[in-house]
Amino acid sequence: MKKKLNIAMIGYQFMGRAHSNAWRQVGKVFDAPYEPVMKVICGRDEAAVKQAAARYGWEEYATDWQQVVHRKDVDVIDICTPGGAHMPIAVAAAETKKVVFCEKPLANTLDEAQQMLTAVRTNGCIHMLCHNYRRAPAVVIAKRLIDDGKIGEIYHYRGSYLQDWIVDPQFPRVWRLEKARSGSGALGDLVSHTADLSRFLVGEISEVAGLLKTFIAERPLPNSAAKAPVDVDDAAVSLIKLENGAIGTIEASRFALGHKNHLRFEINGSKGSVAFDLERMNELELYLEEGPNSGFKTILATDRNHPYIDAWWPPGHIIGYEHTFIHTVLDLMKAIAEEKIPIPNFEDGVRNQRVLDGIERASISGRWEKV
Ligand SMILES: NC(=O)c1ccc[n+]([C@@H]2O[C@H](COP(=O)([O-])OP(=O)(O)OC[C@H]3O[C@@H](n4cnc5c(N)ncnc54)[C@H](O)[C@@H]3O)[C@@H](O)[C@H]2O)c1
Repeated sequence: MKKKLNIAMIGYQFMGRAHSNAWRQVGKVFDAPYEPVMKVICGRDEAAVKQAAARYGWEEYATDWQQVVHRKDVDVIDICTPGGAHMPIAVAAAETKKVVFCEKPLANTLDEAQQMLTAVRTNGCIHMLCHNYRRAPAVVIAKRLIDDGKIGEIYHYRGSYLQDWIVDPQFPRVWRLEKARSGSGALGDLVSHTADLSRFLVGEISEVAGLLKTFIAERPLPNSAAKAPVDVDDAAVSLIKLENGAIGTIEASRFALGHKNHLRFEINGSKGSVAFDLERMNELELYLEEGPNSGFKTILATDRNHPYIDAWWPPGHIIGYEHTFIHTVLDLMKAIAEEKIPIPNFEDGVRNQRVLDGIERASISGRWEKV
């Protein structure tokens, strides 16, 4: 009999659904160190959270996160709310010494992110940030190739994250377009992922230049004819310098028509290149400099020896978006069992937030800004 790990989740929509699926599946596929118990899911709308609890398989539902955070029968607080609510929930959870698992970006501002890091450190909590793309098998293979020196000295990181869901000017001003709730637009939502991958794969970012742009300055409020200002960026572009001497570009947009969830990176080094595209997430493009006639080849990241794949299907039977969350909660549980802080964690969250903050400052100053 495995020891039980009681989970409480705050937020029940997109990420609430993805994390619920992860907690529900992880122990059925992997030999996880605990049996996760989906104890309680929390949201403000009682009818909706009740429905979500029944649908996703939670034992109970609640409408007050403060009460949930203070429950003695809960071990992990899983935060799936918009960024504006991350800090108060995480700090309160840390004060009760619980494990804190938080969606990205860690917070809406650098100051909030630092408060969260201080809270988990002061209280000796295990903490993790959900940058789930780190755990796509192809991305882990890229990491291993780079760490093993197969790509050589790294010269370039080129990352883009492109979507097109708000091109229509009539698309409503939802929370993601409201600074008080989201912190920023494409910057915090999308650049946070590409910046995280650049830090994970290549190294720390030391300086940034940046340009933020809002194309549609006013939108109708949801279910209303009244309009409200959009005070976040629709697109963010940045030049980056890395501590190890590499240089790069990061671009994110919600106005790139035709691209639904196009996260791509390409890394070029002295011995080769690797490239990844989330919309073809089972593949890694690899080029190794092997003289005349060498070219990019495609590795199908589904072989038995590939990361996480052993627990899934036979080679070539591909996996998807939801699996990255399952791998993330698996590694969180392993870290809890070993009493270690997993990666990425709140320190990564603060470092990531420094990059976002630097890009925002650079966009205003028109100069390079230190991170
Ligand atoms: N890892 C990823 O790939 C990924 C993808 C999408 C979103 N996210 C992140 O996940 C977080 C949530 O995004 P989402 O897309 O799930 O949003 P969403 O709008 O789909 O869901 C947000 C949920 O939070 C709840 N909520 C909002 N404010 C609350 C409050 N004050 N108290 C309690 N509950 C509250 C809402 O009721 C809703 O259930 C954000 O930080 C976002 O950046 C991460």
